[in-house]
Amino acid sequence: MSLHPELVRAMAGLPRGVRWHMAGRARSFPLQALCAEVPAEGRVLEIGCGHALVSASLALQSAGRQVVGYDIDAAKIRSAEQVAEAVTAAGGNLAVSVSTGGDGDSPVPAGPWDAVVIADVLYLLSPADQEAILTASAAELAPGGVLVLKELDDHPAPKVAFARAEEVLATRVLRITAGSHLHWRSADDWATVLERAGLKVSVRRVHRGYPYPHALIVGRRPGIVESGQRAAVEPVPGRGEPVDGDG
Ligand SMILES: C[S@@+](CC[C@H](N)C(=O)[O-])C[C@H]1O[C@@H](n2cnc3c(N)ncnc32)[C@H](O)[C@@H]1O
Repeated sequence: MSLHPELVRAMAGLPRGVRWHMAGRARSFPLQALCAEVPAEGRVLEIGCGHALVSASLALQSAGRQVVGYDIDAAKIRSAEQVAEAVTAAGGNLAVSVSTGGDGDSPVPAGPWDAVVIADVLYLLSPADQEAILTASAAELAPGGVLVLKELDDHPAPKVAFARAEEVLATRVLRITAGSHLHWRSADDWATVLERAGLKVSVRRVHRGYPYPHALIVGRRPGIVESGQRAAVEPVPGRGEPVDGDG
């Protein structure tokens, strides 16, 4: 996906390494397919927003989205704050912060959220923490709200091997990604967790054209979305849908 021109402008003020990282990230995963799953209006939470590539893209695509992103990595959030300032100057709504999640017992900030987005974060957490975040996210969705999860699937094998080698490099050697665990699950396994949390789930395998086994797992909380108040999301095909790419 080509980046929004305002995001490119915002990135110009960031250190070169961060700029390269964001540009490489934008080319390496289906950003557009992910953004298309998020309603065009309403309150959007991104958990583990990093430098705010996804959050900023969402906010710049539609001024009707009020996007809130957080991450445990203070250095990334310093860059994300610069990005958020530029997004705000361009008419978008984006706020970012360093956080570990909710204020009280919940691991997720209180909703209701029209969408919760989690892109390539949960594999960094223990299985118990993964399930706690997904269950809490589902509970904080507004009726009709969506949980959009982007993770790597467990096939095809060559893409899995490539992705896992790169993640070990990023987390344990180069240390550009914070996270002590590496716990991958299949897309169908993620879907089962979301179904257990009460969501209606569909899976899209969106890895065509990428060296990584990208999958989007989208869970919708049952409920009525009033037309004109929040943009309806196009129905996504069911689990087992053919592989497609970003476009
Ligand atoms: C691979 S990066 C993805 C960043 C961003 N979601 C994106 O798609 O560009 C994973 C991010 O998850 C963050 N992270 C790891 N554990 C987290 C946690 N418990 N809560 C919030 N963020 C976390 C890391 O700091 C890192 O920025």
